[in-house]
Amino acid sequence: MSLSIVIMAAGKGTRMKSAHPKVLHKIAGRPMLSHVISTTAGLSAQQQIVITGHGAEQVETTMRQAFSSLPLSFVRQEPQLGTGHAVQQAVPVLPNEGTTLILNGDTPLIEAATARALVEASGGDKLALLTIHLPDPTGYGRIVRDASGQKVLAIVEHKDATEAQRAITEVYTGVMAAPTAQLKHWLSKLTNQNAQGEYYLTDVVSLAQADGVAVVAAQPRDEVEVLGVNSPLQLAELERRHQRAQAARLMEQGVRLADPARFDVRGTLQCGQDVDIDVNCVFEGTVTVGDRVQIGANCVIRNATIGAGVVIQPFTHIDGDTLGATVGEGSIIGPFARLRPGAQLGPEVHIGNFVEVKNSTLGRGAKANHLAYLGDATVGERVNYGAGSITANYDGANKHRTVIGNDVQVGSNCVLVAPITVGDGATIGGGSTLGKDAPAGQLTVARAKQVSLAGWQRPEKIKR
Ligand code: UD1
Ligand code: MG
Repeated sequence: MSLSIVIMAAGKGTRMKSAHPKVLHKIAGRPMLSHVISTTAGLSAQQQIVITGHGAEQVETTMRQAFSSLPLSFVRQEPQLGTGHAVQQAVPVLPNEGTTLILNGDTPLIEAATARALVEASGGDKLALLTIHLPDPTGYGRIVRDASGQKVLAIVEHKDATEAQRAITEVYTGVMAAPTAQLKHWLSKLTNQNAQGEYYLTDVVSLAQADGVAVVAAQPRDEVEVLGVNSPLQLAELERRHQRAQAARLMEQGVRLADPARFDVRGTLQCGQDVDIDVNCVFEGTVTVGDRVQIGANCVIRNATIGAGVVIQPFTHIDGDTLGATVGEGSIIGPFARLRPGAQLGPEVHIGNFVEVKNSTLGRGAKANHLAYLGDATVGERVNYGAGSITANYDGANKHRTVIGNDVQVGSNCVLVAPITVGDGATIGGGSTLGKDAPAGQLTVARAKQVSLAGWQRPEKIKR
């Protein structure tokens, strides 16, 4: 059976009071519309059609970049005359058979299983509605059933509903699945004779009834799946609910979160056994954390792989960006450390406070414990890199590499002007600025010789 997906995303989102289109506001670090597109991509539909209007250019560009491999197409709705009018715009690109699943772009947490179940409930010949009972149904379209309660007769929008209908707590969530050919027919019959002067998609229900097509209802597993976002407050509330759910899933797997209410995953976080995560940590992109890792408070970790037994002290920032960052087993990072893209740390490495590592490989047991910079460097095993030392990797035009062998001691406050190589077992005297290679096994010092002037007199304040 061929499946088409239509996602409505043309509305303005007035209550967001933002210059950005509503569907691009983010939940868990991704635009709301991206969530709906990637979830429904799992249904292997023939096509996914997004209806755009407000901020169409920006919405389409953002989604094309994010989903270059999906069969996404965009249809513009200009002006926006209601949800029925929105789907009417897709009619020319919809086939004449199969099923169409319609969703809202501002309801980001719908799950694939729920959407799939709705398509199955439609079964190719029924109109299936996703409904839910809400204690406060204000604003939603009400599901009107016959006296037996078995048959769905219509959806009545809040503004058009009678007092008796407003008392109904079963509401339409904005998701439906319909046989495409019939849907097209019903769409052609919509009118805007209602309280809002809009073409309501929800009127297809009474049209289906009139045609003798069965209307069935299914429910989501969890209310959070159908919560829409209309304001910054609702955006933040949905974000928290989503984060709480992710935290609960990780804790069920054994991860110990100091406080699930102060924890954010914006992407995927995979954890081994006996992982402890203190408060206010943010995980972005793809992060993998090995067994027995301890992460201190206020760490931000993005696109990184953390080996078993690693201790990450508070206020550490690890950002692998597109290159990734790796921390080897048993390493100790932080507090206040910064690992940037391409930081590849071997096992048992120590990176201390105010140390920045970028595009550098560090061998087993290498240490840079205080106030240092390692950029574009290859650092051997057991190297001790002193406080205040830096690799001068940039000549104003190009980046150059620094190579440091095994068992090297770099004193404090050294400048290694790249390209440069420091041989195995070399010692660099503190305060040296090296512009040439330092040979293996030797002490290299490159600084002014110390002098002491005997009999020197400190100037005295002139008395007036
Ligand atoms: C709609 C339903 C209502 C349901 C509720 C669930 C209708 C008439 N009503 O109401 O029964 O309870 O959703 O959240 O469908 N959009 C367009 N073009 C338009 C208008 C809207 O693309 O011309 C898009 C919006 O961007 C949004 C979605 O359609 O993603 C829903 O629109 P919205 O105005 O929020 O509909 P509701 O009044 O909430
Ligand atoms: Mg709405």
